[in-house]
Amino acid sequence: MTLAPWRSALARALHRNRSRAYSRYLQLATLNLEGKPSNRTVVFRGFVDEKLQMVSDGRSEKIQQIQACPWAEICWYFTVTREQFRIAGELTLIGPNNELETIRINAWQAMSENAHQQFYWPHPGHARTDAKAFEPAVIATNQPPDSFSVLLLKAHRVEHLELRGNPQNRFVYEWTDGEWTVEEVNP
Ligand SMILES: Cc1cc2nc3c(=O)[nH]c(=O)nc-3n(C[C@H](O)[C@H](O)[C@H](O)COP(=O)(O)O)c2cc1C
Repeated sequence: MTLAPWRSALARALHRNRSRAYSRYLQLATLNLEGKPSNRTVVFRGFVDEKLQMVSDGRSEKIQQIQACPWAEICWYFTVTREQFRIAGELTLIGPNNELETIRINAWQAMSENAHQQFYWPHPGHARTDAKAFEPAVIATNQPPDSFSVLLLKAHRVEHLELRGNPQNRFVYEWTDGEWTVEEVNP
């Protein structure tokens, strides 16, 4: 399979910004149940084929939102190279009892024990629970709990803005009729 044309630009940005751990943090916007924007920071967890992988707690609000409307947009700024990617597309959710369980298990096993613990915490977004409920749990390192969900974003439109350069450079990639088109536009 040939790589989508925007993938090399994103791979290059990830590589050139790798000295900053926060280069893997991106903003993921969804629509809430009232049709209003809802945005938050999540960690990029690599690619699964063409799709961008993230993980979240299946009990968090974003999951219900994505079930109602799978369309989302990522906004990602790389500070070293001063470039922004806006990636709009459709999310696939992988919770427990999903045919894509292997992807969920792989994502779980790639995470630290510290990160695992959060999925055993009390229900996110509910009234603050007693500190005892946050004490480290005994966890299975090879089998994710039901709260562990993987999010895969299939891009449909990618906008790449490079601030470096005068004038700046801006490219729009679109998935139309089964292939990617690219157009350079004014910044
Ligand atoms: C640096 C940073 C990284 C984060 N990474 C994740 C993540 O990978 N997955 C996640 O679900 N939430 C992550 N969060 C928390 C989310 O931003 C958000 O607060 C939480 O998921 C609840 O969002 P929701 O109510 O819209 O579902 C992160 C927050 C910060 C500040």
